[in-house]
Amino acid sequence: MIEIRHVNMVYPNGVRALNDINLNIDRNEFVFVVGASGAGKSTLIRLLGLEFPPTAGKIKVLGKELTRLRRREIPAYRRSIGVVFQDFRLLENRCVYDNVAFAMQVVGARPRDIRRRVPEALEAVGLLDKARMKPQELSGGEQQRVCLARAIVNNPSLIIADEPTGNLDPKTSMEIIEHLKAINIRGTTVIMATHDREIVNALKKRVIALENGRIIRDEQRGEYS
Ligand SMILES: Nc1ncnc2c1ncn2[C@@H]1O[C@H](COP(=O)(O)OP(=O)(O)O)[C@@H](O)[C@H]1O
Ligand SMILES: [Mg+2]
Repeated sequence: MIEIRHVNMVYPNGVRALNDINLNIDRNEFVFVVGASGAGKSTLIRLLGLEFPPTAGKIKVLGKELTRLRRREIPAYRRSIGVVFQDFRLLENRCVYDNVAFAMQVVGARPRDIRRRVPEALEAVGLLDKARMKPQELSGGEQQRVCLARAIVNNPSLIIADEPTGNLDPKTSMEIIEHLKAINIRGTTVIMATHDREIVNALKKRVIALENGRIIRDEQRGEYS
């Protein structure tokens, strides 16, 4: 479902963040992207999230080459991926329900579908009873579960998560991972950047290790290092 060919990313300041990345990821895989700080994990995730185009190379997701997406194809692409951030990025003065609903509104979903899907997504992460609370009234783990609900509400084929447990304690982190595993089992591909060794070693999923913008290891049922 994802084909990355000879991808390079050089930021405007001249930093080469990715150097000739080649990668295939199949539907339904759960993939960890690991590596030290500065290795290029976030850059790879952000390319998939369409934050910017690569300097060179091709990225094909679900049969579409990202650099060739037409303007009118972009909303559909955004609907087909869910994004989870380390720092949650919730709307602080909106309640949990509105935060999740917003992800559907921005891609032009119908109100009827929003009223049906938002409670389903909140139910999936065990937060239906907190739908009217504000993010500040929730624990870090609960806030990240709101983000998971927001990421899955459009029924994406792919979830990309950049250090989603980076601000959470180990027990809460494992709860988030259990939710991501469940989302993956229900048929969504998951790509997660992390430097949480414990989680990677516990899950025994595919591990792609980056170093200085290059892939130095790609193992099924891999370990952190
Ligand atoms: N917006 C940016 N502008 C310039 N350089 C950047 C930018 N974002 C990241 N970098 C640099 O690119 C390299 C890879 O960064 P990043 O992808 O964030 O790595 P990681 O997520 O693995 O820590 C680092 O050297 C970083 O300093
Ligand atoms: Mg990063």
